[in-house]
Amino acid sequence: MTASALLDVKDVNKYYGDAHVLRDIDLQIQRGEFVALVGQSGGGKSTLLRLIAGLEDTTTGELRQDGHAISGLNPDSRVMFQNDRLLPWLTVKENLAFADKSKSADADADQLLQRVELTEFANAYPAALSGGQRQRVALARALMAKPELLLLDEPLGALDALTRRKMQDLILQLWTERKMTVVLVTHDVNEAVRMASRIFVVAEHEIVQTYENPTECPRSDEDIAPLAQKVLDTIVNN
Ligand SMILES: Nc1ncnc2c1ncn2[C@@H]1O[C@H](COP(=O)(O)OP(=O)(O)OP(=O)(O)O)[C@@H](O)[C@H]1O
Ligand SMILES: [Mg+2]
Repeated sequence: MTASALLDVKDVNKYYGDAHVLRDIDLQIQRGEFVALVGQSGGGKSTLLRLIAGLEDTTTGELRQDGHAISGLNPDSRVMFQNDRLLPWLTVKENLAFADKSKSADADADQLLQRVELTEFANAYPAALSGGQRQRVALARALMAKPELLLLDEPLGALDALTRRKMQDLILQLWTERKMTVVLVTHDVNEAVRMASRIFVVAEHEIVQTYENPTECPRSDEDIAPLAQKVLDTIVNN
């Protein structure tokens, strides 16, 4: 592991019963990096995020963050799940502040709700929100703990194109401001190439290809197109 690698995934395999859902996964993510995982449905992307978050154990192999083995819940990471998992009996703001006992929780929640443009829904219950609004609440909630490592599983899937673009920009702004490390799972190849400086293609439960994305953020559509095409070809051909 290089000195600055934040996350080191070494030779990880995961089985569910007889199903081999992650095969010999090796990857290192540097502190402050923004990387993306793309690939066909069922390939094991969410499973890998759950292992990084310490929500599940590997079958073989090891994950380390900051040099420490991840075992049990990883307190320095937060996941925004594919489904928003909001608590229906709490208001939007209560969902944000729920697990946060710090003095600044109230102010932090207000500030994040403003950033995701949901201030007016602070006292609403999740059932009264649209799918995209719920996703934005889930994003704000994941950011409450100021995680060192933010794991985003299809965070913007339910958003219209314009809101999606705005939320991509917001995530990039927060990544820069907070100097977080981000792992983004997305089915949108353009989104992966727009946001990440490295893209891992997962197919058949393995990482089959890694692409470096040397263009600097913010990336224009012209910057994105050539690499997005390569990534897409790799997904289609695996
Ligand atoms: N708790 C579980 N028990 C048994 N099998 C599981 C479990 N979770 C996931 N799997 C299986 O592991 C495989 C990988 O699932 P995973 O959710 O990681 O895929 P994914 O790449 O995130 O897919 P998608 O893009 O559709 O979200 C799938 O075949 C799935 O059925
Ligand atoms: Mg998934």
